[in-house]
Amino acid sequence: MSGQIITLTRHIIEEQRKYPEATGKFTDLMNDIAFAAKLISYHVNKAGLMEILGETGNVNVQGEVVKKLDVFANETLVKALDHNGHTCVMASEEEEDIISIPEEYPLGKYVVVFDPLDGSSNIDANVSVGTIFSIYNRVSPDGRPGRLEDCLQAGKRQVCAGYVIYGSSTMLVYTTGNGVHGFTLDPSYGEFVLSHPNIRIPKKGKIYSVNESYFEFWDEPIKQYVQYIKQVDGDTNRPMNSRYIGSLVSDFHRNLLYGGIFLYPPSIKAPSGKLRLLYEANPLAFIVEQAGGKAIDGKRRIMDIVPEKLHQRVPLFIGSEDDVKMVEEFIEGKRKLN
Ligand code: AHG
Ligand code: MN
Ligand code: MN
Repeated sequence: MSGQIITLTRHIIEEQRKYPEATGKFTDLMNDIAFAAKLISYHVNKAGLMEILGETGNVNVQGEVVKKLDVFANETLVKALDHNGHTCVMASEEEEDIISIPEEYPLGKYVVVFDPLDGSSNIDANVSVGTIFSIYNRVSPDGRPGRLEDCLQAGKRQVCAGYVIYGSSTMLVYTTGNGVHGFTLDPSYGEFVLSHPNIRIPKKGKIYSVNESYFEFWDEPIKQYVQYIKQVDGDTNRPMNSRYIGSLVSDFHRNLLYGGIFLYPPSIKAPSGKLRLLYEANPLAFIVEQAGGKAIDGKRRIMDIVPEKLHQRVPLFIGSEDDVKMVEEFIEGKRKLN
């Protein structure tokens, strides 16, 4: 129906109605994530004013200590999610260990892991940054605090994954396994409204996103793939077009909408790449698969990997199905540069 506004809350409630056993706790949890996202969005927008309002680490004009934005984003998410009785444990890229729920609050069945502020080194240049999250059901017994094993589940067990991008507008994109849906924050009334229903990634894209300064440190198949996509050949729509922001959420979001591939390959310097399995690769893998794309570490489907450590790194090849299959063929030695 044209002109109808569907808020994020309404969308989640309608999704949840499909499951008669749903208790409403998931809706509460998503509302808390959305609330944290609005607070982070507000502060990210003020980042450029930090220097006049007070430098990081200093006391600002309101007499508050100015925190680094990634620390602020982390605290905001933890505080938003720790007290409503839907969560039993959390983990964050910003914290060494699992985050327990304070004793005074009830425990729930969900496990939430997140990268509170992705791309934060770009903040001072006014480049888009984001928050990435993923939600699991607990595997440890109910009624007790959640444990490490709850956080170390394979990505295929995610019940929800999403990201918020603080860009020219603020958007929240999520999946619960029924497609990928994008919501834009309307700043006038502070609601996320459905703007991108059922996002599909093109089967083959035009864009490749990689930090090519690491070229000399890559394995031969990766070098050959990147050389291949830059060759001129009208029949296969080459060369592909290079776009790299250095802010994963932003690079991923653009490629999701336009089609293409993001790669952070292993290198001599970083044998497992840089990105984190729990907070970055898994949630984006769930989203890309739900949109019709593909995500691998070079050999395996990202969501099949069982994490061994909270902050485990993983090489990442993610995006349009045909583009990820192509790099896979180079890695497997089925294809070589002519
Ligand atoms: P974070 O800010 O959460 O630490 O993540 C930064 C990541 C990711 O956003 C981006 O894709 C990648 O770092 C860029 O790394 P390089 O500078 O090595 O290209
Ligand atoms: Mn990150
Ligand atoms: Mn981060």
